[in-house]
Amino acid sequence: MADGIFGQFREHSIAEFFKKNRQMLGFSGKVRSLTTLVHEYVTNSLDACEEAGILPDITVQIEQLDNGHIRITVEDNGPGIPEKLVGKALGQMLAGTKFNRYMQQRGQQGIGASGAGMFSQITTGRPVKFKTGQGDGKFYEGELKIDFKSNKPIIENKKEADGPYRGLWVQAEFAEVKYDKSDYAPYEYLKRTALMNPHAQILFIEPTGERFLFPRASDLIPQKPQEIQPHPLGITTSDIVEFAHSSQDRKLSSFFVNTFSRFSYGKVEELKALLPEINFEMAPKELKWEQAEQLVNRFKELRWVSPEMDALRPVGPEQVEKALKNIYNPEFMAVTERKPKVFRGGIPFMVEAAIAYGGGTGRRKTDGSVGGDILRFANRVPLLFDAGGCGMTDAVKTIDWRRYDIKNFENEPVSVLINFVSVHVPYTGAGKQAISGEEEIEEEIRLAVMDAAREMQRYLHGKVREAGREAKKKTILRYISQLAHDLTQLGGKGKPAEIEKKLTKMVEDKYSQLTLEEAGEEAEEEGAKEDPPNGNGEEKEE
Ligand SMILES: Nc1ncnc2c1ncn2[C@@H]1O[C@H](COP(=O)(O)OP(=O)(O)O)[C@@H](O)[C@H]1O
Ligand SMILES: [Mg+2]
Repeated sequence: MADGIFGQFREHSIAEFFKKNRQMLGFSGKVRSLTTLVHEYVTNSLDACEEAGILPDITVQIEQLDNGHIRITVEDNGPGIPEKLVGKALGQMLAGTKFNRYMQQRGQQGIGASGAGMFSQITTGRPVKFKTGQGDGKFYEGELKIDFKSNKPIIENKKEADGPYRGLWVQAEFAEVKYDKSDYAPYEYLKRTALMNPHAQILFIEPTGERFLFPRASDLIPQKPQEIQPHPLGITTSDIVEFAHSSQDRKLSSFFVNTFSRFSYGKVEELKALLPEINFEMAPKELKWEQAEQLVNRFKELRWVSPEMDALRPVGPEQVEKALKNIYNPEFMAVTERKPKVFRGGIPFMVEAAIAYGGGTGRRKTDGSVGGDILRFANRVPLLFDAGGCGMTDAVKTIDWRRYDIKNFENEPVSVLINFVSVHVPYTGAGKQAISGEEEIEEEIRLAVMDAAREMQRYLHGKVREAGREAKKKTILRYISQLAHDLTQLGGKGKPAEIEKKLTKMVEDKYSQLTLEEAGEEAEEEGAKEDPPNGNGEEKEE
């Protein structure tokens, strides 16, 4: 009987797996699929430019073809892909330069570009066209397909040409996608990408031919992301096994010291004392799961120097401010940046937050009104989907907005921006649209947003006072003419017009003494009386 059953035994390639489970790559729903495609190409361009220290110029074109297909063309001015690797980079899953790196990059798994190619092929049967050069006098063009059975690229019509071309140009056709201008569509995605990447210039050409340019707001190239070693406290059993089995080290002891941050031979000795049954002289390749599990548990009992924090690359308050101004032109904004923290005991992260009020902020609802919006980012990448299951949304929802003069978050022109920065983003799924709501993370997000909210409250409070002053002034001015008249009659001297002029000046002076800012400060003092902040300036809500 077993022969019968096992006669069906087959092996799958990863490409076949994702072909069947494409929703795992973000290909579910027609609008979402299109945004995912744009996202994969654009994040690759940004990553490549960042690593090469190039100010990105990216063009994204979406065309509606007569056969119902949608054609996407993305071009960047990045470093390009070497001829030998272009097939693997664009047409082989789980292949890329960013694999297993503890580095703050957008891509991680090597399934972005190849996943997009796969989606094109399974929905239209067409190849991906590419052109790439490294600016060294030669460039290459060709067409690429994926052999799903073997997860290998097939390149056709390859041509070599002479010219100074540098960058990557890709073009592919898709079905089962739809173009619209909703909050989940490419336009919004690119707008938010531009917002958090003020050093990038992005040109978007939509199917009607209309062009939208998101100009560069800053010429500052972000510091090159730095690769760090994982900290022993941020590591799982499966990570250790994976790292150990691909290690070149001869002994387990040197593997630990060479692979992890803050791991000294002194620490190896401490572990030896705790785990005499493990032979630290053995080859890392022989490490068994059970042993790795024991090690991970023991790591938690040792004292470690905290992880390196300087690999984190936030956008920075000045850049965020410039970008917000550039894109939303808000009436008011406040930006906060907090110090790096650690989650799961060993993974450094940092939260940048901003609140922008008025101007083009907030979410346009279908009835035309405007409501509060949460702009979520992970390492500068906009997260448009799965807001409900995201730790960032949860954190913002638990804030009592009335304390900050926002009566109903859902009905105010306000945008809360959060950028979660880390070498490891704890996404909740392979679609990478939400981060897990771990306690340390949510708490840090709340504190960052509340910092900004306090500043906004000062502004709003000042605004209310200013409006009150205006109203009073108007009321008094209304009586001035009559008063001037009565005064001249009573006193029996003076000209009404002159007295009116003087009185008006008196009233104007009284009510214009306080500028908006001063009114804000006054409100702050009052606020401090009602609500003293605690010693470290951080506020916890009960
Ligand atoms: N625009 C680009 N410029 C330079 N290299 C690129 C570009 N797009 C993709 N690559 C290369 O192709 C690899 C695979 O890309 P991808 O499948 O999206 O995976 P990931 O981004 O997760 O590494 C990248 O790691 C990178 O080396
Ligand atoms: Mg990628």
